[in-house]
Amino acid sequence: MSHPVLETRELTIRFGGHAAVDGVSAAFHAGTLTAIVGPNGAGKTTYFNLMSGQLAATAGRVLLDGVDVTGLGPAARARRGMGRAFQLTNLFPNLSVLENVRLAVQARAGGGGDLLSLWSRRRDWIEIAERVLESVNLANARHTPAAALSHGDKRKLDVAIMMALEPHVLMFDEPTAGMSVDEVPVILDLIHALKAEGTRTILLVEHKMDVVRSLADRIVVLHNGRLVADGEPAEVIASPIVQEAYLGMPARTTVQDLASPALERAHG
Ligand SMILES: Nc1ncnc2c1ncn2[C@@H]1O[C@H](COP(=O)(O)OP(=O)(O)O)[C@@H](O)[C@H]1O
Ligand SMILES: [Mg+2]
Repeated sequence: MSHPVLETRELTIRFGGHAAVDGVSAAFHAGTLTAIVGPNGAGKTTYFNLMSGQLAATAGRVLLDGVDVTGLGPAARARRGMGRAFQLTNLFPNLSVLENVRLAVQARAGGGGDLLSLWSRRRDWIEIAERVLESVNLANARHTPAAALSHGDKRKLDVAIMMALEPHVLMFDEPTAGMSVDEVPVILDLIHALKAEGTRTILLVEHKMDVVRSLADRIVVLHNGRLVADGEPAEVIASPIVQEAYLGMPARTTVQDLASPALERAHG
């Protein structure tokens, strides 16, 4: 198999005495989509924060394209191609949708140069931004201030800003949370299309098991900060830990709904 694009080795962070992510080792390869599942508080978002550099690890390592990036901050990791949707925290509320994406494109390109060349390059940045907006179905809202968007459209904009940085690693943390039913397919289709390109390394935290089933090549289960299952979806879903948790559950059941005691019994 090819070298992993992204890898964590015994990755750990402690808040006080509590290990929110506890010795997690996993490797992720180009052209794959891995779903990270587990009950609320399992450490999924914290794991993403450790990989993208928002949080500094207490112990363990993060490798990106074979390079140890454990000591690098989030901006340096983003420059190396690590993309993370930030759950709305990086939107400029008073700027238009297009300006939000244009700024991200510009940041990626580097803003240097004299005024005249800046001005001509600005048109290129806007063109790229327009294309990104089309890919998330937001082109019609290009002149709307970010603050005036619906929740679903804000999330699409968030994804657009990530895409503008042309990442080869993409992390989606519950990308459809809070979206209305008719908005969900746009994001799922986008993730599906990104996967179909076959070159990106995609990580997806998602509670809806039907979504996980339809998109994931692999499922990693976190519980109490620990990796408790990792493998092909059919295999992981059939594993005792997940089997016990899911058995007899209705199709719409989310991992979040799962009773912790069931997982605890299955695991321990
Ligand atoms: N900055 C923080 N300070 C203290 N505890 C935190 C912090 N971030 C997360 N935690 C704790 O880490 C655990 C995992 O949280 P989180 O990664 O958000 O879980 P998940 O995304 O799986 O729901 C939780 O117990 C949470 O309270
Ligand atoms: Mg979370």
